[in-house]
Amino acid sequence: MPSSSAESATTVSTPGSPPAPAEQPAWWRDAVFYEIYLRSFADGNGDGVGDLAGVRARLPYLRDLGVDALWLSPFYPSPMVDHGYDVADPRDVEPVFGDLAEFDRLLADAHRLGMRMTIDVVPNHSSDQRRWFRAALAAAPGSPERARYVFRDGSGPGGAEPPNNWPSVFGGPAWQRVPDGQWYLHLFAPEQPDLNWRNPEVAEDAEDTLRFWLDRGVDGFRIDVAMGLFKDPELGDLPTPYTADRRGHGPEDGVLWNRPEVHDVYRSWRQVLDSYPGHRMAVGEVWVRDPGELAAYIRPDELHLAFNFRLLRAEWAAAEMRAVISQTLAACAAVGAPTTWVLSSHDAVRHLSRYGGGDLGRRRARAAALLLLGLPGPVYLYQGEELALPEVDLPDDALQDPVWERSGHTERGRDGCRVPLPWSGGEPPYGFSPTSVRTWLPQPTDWGTLTAQAQDRDGDSMLGLYRRALRARRELGGSDFRWLEGPPDALIWRRGDVVCALNFGAAALRLPPGEVLLTSEGLEEGRLPTDSAAWVRSAPAAP
Ligand code: GLC
Repeated sequence: MPSSSAESATTVSTPGSPPAPAEQPAWWRDAVFYEIYLRSFADGNGDGVGDLAGVRARLPYLRDLGVDALWLSPFYPSPMVDHGYDVADPRDVEPVFGDLAEFDRLLADAHRLGMRMTIDVVPNHSSDQRRWFRAALAAAPGSPERARYVFRDGSGPGGAEPPNNWPSVFGGPAWQRVPDGQWYLHLFAPEQPDLNWRNPEVAEDAEDTLRFWLDRGVDGFRIDVAMGLFKDPELGDLPTPYTADRRGHGPEDGVLWNRPEVHDVYRSWRQVLDSYPGHRMAVGEVWVRDPGELAAYIRPDELHLAFNFRLLRAEWAAAEMRAVISQTLAACAAVGAPTTWVLSSHDAVRHLSRYGGGDLGRRRARAAALLLLGLPGPVYLYQGEELALPEVDLPDDALQDPVWERSGHTERGRDGCRVPLPWSGGEPPYGFSPTSVRTWLPQPTDWGTLTAQAQDRDGDSMLGLYRRALRARRELGGSDFRWLEGPPDALIWRRGDVVCALNFGAAALRLPPGEVLLTSEGLEEGRLPTDSAAWVRSAPAAP
């Protein structure tokens, strides 16, 4: 284990902030964000679906957890084909979730409790029930109404085949035929037609949406499918059909996603955000192949942050995680932006289950919390990871994700990470709803020990660990980060006065001398056992 003289090699430090429009420091540069998947967080009105009133009632829980900012998933009017990511009106509130007045109350309360509020925007597509799309269907081919979306004639005899071989992320072709014979593009569900970003009206409307919510006081946005928006104007066939990965990691990169034109959109959005006081920010959902391409989205005049999904995809292995961390830190530092860390979301299998599930998964997830929160830069937590929730294996007839139907029942989709949170009590709905109702996805019957209430007073629970880590994180040194030498199956790094270590190996790891601030498991004779992590205050040796 490291003696201080072994402090080595890879030093990656982030250059100072780009000039900020206001005097206060840019809060987002090292904030901990908490993703609220609204349908599944807390139900205020007793219909079994989470809503804004439910979130408002639980704000004290989030404050006590110690997060800095919230990210609220879409709450706009929606037919809910993709549970809100099919937006029928981007400047209003879905009645299932509340209304604008309720949103304003939630925002005011979050601010009063010292938390920032960021919200989702969905610029790549709309709902097929948006007024614009209904008008496009009613209008003729070639009309201005159709020009807000991507309508084309088909190929083959009578145009009966789709215009090209592009696939939908949710399975099946990315084209849907309309009664007059034309086809429209939908990279997600057919009820989510892609907008035509080459039409200036679309770009203007999106900025109106940003301003609408900025005027109400939101602190920033999470941009859905941020590497989307523009498609290859030739609309040519992909060289090979889709294989495994459907998010810009194959031949579709640069054709369906990640086109250079998208960067001008974010330059313009940055100007909108910077024209408001208080460091309003945007984070992009950017699925791209390499860290350099990710960093292109967070150049100083573009987005503030971009999710780094490489850590979420990494195996539970020291070498892979080390490489991902080093490469991403270096790529982001080159553009002066912090790296944004995330292990779980409403789109991914919960990491406790990815890391093995059961006791093993829980142990690793505890260590992972100290990894995530021990790295420099902003972190996104996903609701329920602080309660040690696993992925749920739901019965077929409970599945609601469009992926299940669209894939012909070959992919189960993302419902398993979206099961409503357990708050209290010993049986469903575990305080999720005020009355005993069926929740929109069924909760397991063995979650009684995982409720927030059950973990609240136990400092050793997952909730207790997250709370302590969020508090202790404030003592880690800014953007300072340096790998320390150690065995190959351990990650050891320094943040200012604190050394963080994660031991993946079988042999217990010796920790540096100093005050142990936090461990994910009990130490064994002062050593760090397998699949566990620790933070130790240990001053660096004088040079
Ligand atoms: C993003 C969202 C996902 C949604 C998709 C289409 O990836 O995170 O939940 O299904 O976009 O909007």
